[in-house]
Amino acid sequence: MQQLHKDVDRVLFTQEDLAKRVTEMGQQITKDHPGESLLVISVLRGAAIFMADLVRHIDLPLEMDYMAISSYGNGAKSSGVVRILKDLTSSVEGRHVLIAEDILDSGLTLKYLIKNLSSRNPASIEVATLLRKKTLQQAKIDCRYVGFECPDEFIVGYGLDYAERYRNLPYIGVLKPDLYE
Ligand code: IMP
Ligand code: MG
Repeated sequence: MQQLHKDVDRVLFTQEDLAKRVTEMGQQITKDHPGESLLVISVLRGAAIFMADLVRHIDLPLEMDYMAISSYGNGAKSSGVVRILKDLTSSVEGRHVLIAEDILDSGLTLKYLIKNLSSRNPASIEVATLLRKKTLQQAKIDCRYVGFECPDEFIVGYGLDYAERYRNLPYIGVLKPDLYE
């Protein structure tokens, strides 16, 4: 990873931090849903790595499905424009839905997603987000599971990208600002 490391200003969460916290989240989700089966939905592409690790610590019958939503473009700032690029394969009706999200920033993506999925009559909808950014303006989103709070800086790794790069970093770090400013 030498080629990617040099673009990282500092590491926020190591590979070990992530593994430990994702394990705890999966165990908590298991405890909170006795006798239920889940439809775990991940928002592509950022959340795919988190979801893949998370479901392996959820000891319940579950189905995995994927949606692609765009609120960002290739830049580092939210555009506020949300649209569905790829819809689910499964039906949501009557299901216990768990949305696995990589990071809650402005909250626009999740706000839209929750509204959209609610209109499809699920039995319940909950959110597990790996990261919640400490931003000044964030839509009020009820996240039952939050992995870590993180500073309001642009971060990459463990699924998070800048212009589609750095998703394969095994840790999460702050991108050197001169790379996108
Ligand atoms: P929101 O709609 O502003 O909450 O943005 C959510 C989406 O923006 C996430 O799913 C990420 O894909 C992306 N995002 C937000 N902050 C960052 C960041 O610091 N690094 C990389 N992607 C980010
Ligand atoms: Mg992204």
